[in-house]
Amino acid sequence: MTQVTAQSLRQLKQADIKFSCVTAYDASFARCIAAAGVETMLVGDSLGMVLQGHRDTLPVTIEHMAYHVQCVSRANTSSLVMGDMPFMSYATTEQALQNAACLMRAGAQMVKLEGGAWLSESIYKLTERGIPVCAHLGLTPQSVNTLGGFKVQGRNEADARRIVDDAHEVEAAGAGLLVLECIPSALGGQISKQLAIPVIGIGAGPDTDAQVLVLHDLLGLNPHPPRFVKNFMAGQGSIEDAITAFSEAVKNGQFPTPEHGFKA
Ligand code: KIV
Repeated sequence: MTQVTAQSLRQLKQADIKFSCVTAYDASFARCIAAAGVETMLVGDSLGMVLQGHRDTLPVTIEHMAYHVQCVSRANTSSLVMGDMPFMSYATTEQALQNAACLMRAGAQMVKLEGGAWLSESIYKLTERGIPVCAHLGLTPQSVNTLGGFKVQGRNEADARRIVDDAHEVEAAGAGLLVLECIPSALGGQISKQLAIPVIGIGAGPDTDAQVLVLHDLLGLNPHPPRFVKNFMAGQGSIEDAITAFSEAVKNGQFPTPEHGFKA
């Protein structure tokens, strides 16, 4: 497989071909994910919960993220590796530039930031200086304390409008990808249709351009999986087979089904 880039993902969108993304935190799993042909790997700050046992992602630092990006990128063969910018590491544009550079030096090929219009200047400057950006809207877990919990977003008209406007703003600022988390399925489909950049959904319905799941969730290791998760390990003989099953189900439209999504 040739190296996946933001540009090749955009070509997939133009050709109406869906792609997949799985979170990766270490070299062994990164090897499995790459071997399964998954186009993008996200070194997510979900590692704060999945690996470190915290109740949210807030304790994760840029040093933690850089360490895990290094582990993953050493084993990656051809997937696009995205590094998550942790809580308060991009509160100002200066911090965003400095901390994104740290993840890129560690081996990331793109960085992900949670937020909308307020991030426009940072997204513009990062892309201008050679750092591709994935934006993240909807349920943004680093804002769990202002959102009042891990709740579905965009359920009323005003909130949905704000997410749509933010999506256009981050695209106009230069974002190359957008993650939409926990929003009504119809809203996920609407935003994906309106944007030229690929939209990766998680709990955002079947009509986004791609799907991402947390690795441990798709392997059935979460004792309290959210509604949008499916256990792909069931009936499989190996971890690589389970990841391949996820990737194929996304590509052929078998995952997610309506029962994995949310209504307005
Ligand atoms: O940190 C993470 O794993 C994420 C995904 C859930 C999109 O942001």
